Amino acid sequence: MLFSPEPKSSRKDFFDKEEELERLKKLSSPINLVLGLRRTGKSSLIRICLNELNLPSIYIDLRKFEDKGYITYKDFILDFEEKVNRLVKSFPELINLMKRVRGIKVLGNEVSFFWSGKNVLKFSDLLEVLDGWADDKVVVVLEEVQELIKLRGYDLLPSLAYAFDNLKKVRIVLSGSKMGLLYRFLKVYDVKTPLYGRAFSRIELKPLMRDEAISFLKAGFEELKIPFDRFEEVYEKLGGIPGWLTYFGFKYSEYRDFDRSLAETLNIARKLILEEFENFLKDKEIAKKRYYTVMKTLSKGGRWNDVKRALEAMESVRVSDSIISNYLNKLCEISFIEKYYGEYRPTDPLIGWVFSSIN
Ligand SMILES: Nc1ncnc2c1ncn2[C@@H]1O[C@H](COP(=O)(O)OP(=O)(O)O)[C@@H](O)[C@H]1O
Ligand SMILES: [Mg+2]
Repeated sequence: MLFSPEPKSSRKDFFDKEEELERLKKLSSPINLVLGLRRTGKSSLIRICLNELNLPSIYIDLRKFEDKGYITYKDFILDFEEKVNRLVKSFPELINLMKRVRGIKVLGNEVSFFWSGKNVLKFSDLLEVLDGWADDKVVVVLEEVQELIKLRGYDLLPSLAYAFDNLKKVRIVLSGSKMGLLYRFLKVYDVKTPLYGRAFSRIELKPLMRDEAISFLKAGFEELKIPFDRFEEVYEKLGGIPGWLTYFGFKYSEYRDFDRSLAETLNIARKLILEEFENFLKDKEIAKKRYYTVMKTLSKGGRWNDVKRALEAMESVRVSDSIISNYLNKLCEISFIEKYYGEYRPTDPLIGWVFSSIN
């Protein structure tokens, strides 16, 4: 069903992303990036792809660390351990190869990973053993990988670079927002870093344009045989992010009441957007009020100077230029705002709406 509110796992429920699906299915690079704002369908794309390819895979969604201030290597590697143990259940022969890896302890048909000390499991060794085992390909998915910016005590970039340069069968899929993923975590544009200059395959999921959004809603309501004609209004209010449109369609199919469905969609959107914002602000107690002011100032778009003026008006004191730029860069990195012809604006109309109504 097009309007079901979970990530999709079958192509027939996924609107109009055939080309993106075919491209991802090729897994043409050792590291494949799936980029897009939240709720644009990244998880759906990846799940459908894994289902159709039917390759052995390890799937990790780092969003579960979203509300943590930092992540340890232990958190990360134990997540892997659990997924590898699942893989071992389906492919018991894998265990013999695992036995030989430093940092992996095998007991019966279960593996345990060392997360620190002299036997610590090197992430590249784990990838290498998978590479040596697979017949065809093995897919390692890390979703919302920008969360790993918070990883303490272990640097994953050298392992990813190693996989990129040396492994033949391991195919890595990384998802996240463009700014967060590329600039902050992978640092692909920084000459001094391990992944600099590698040619990743990139698939970007954009919000739907007006016509596409309307076709999506039409298709969804037709599928459910529910009469509906207020497509334009939905797009005006919600914009083109598939997740919000899906949620609206789902609610409307339940209530058959336009205003109530819209109000509930806006409500959940506000709640999720503010939750994400609060997570971002966790280690920024002092600047919290300022960040809210910046977002409010830019809720309908605005310039650098507007931000400076608003902050200085709020505090009746000078705020330095570098601090202003720092706030704006950070907000771009988490994809709450973007730069557009010299102006800053919210990346999603609902983000703008949430902050314009805040005081
Ligand atoms: N192209 C699409 N067709 C149908 N539903 C979609 C599409 N893209 C996203 N969705 C729906 O939107 C919501 C968010 O999608 P998800 O794949 O979780 O996005 P992301 O991982 O980018 O946050 C889910 O309910 C999903 O079913
Ligand atoms: Mg997702």
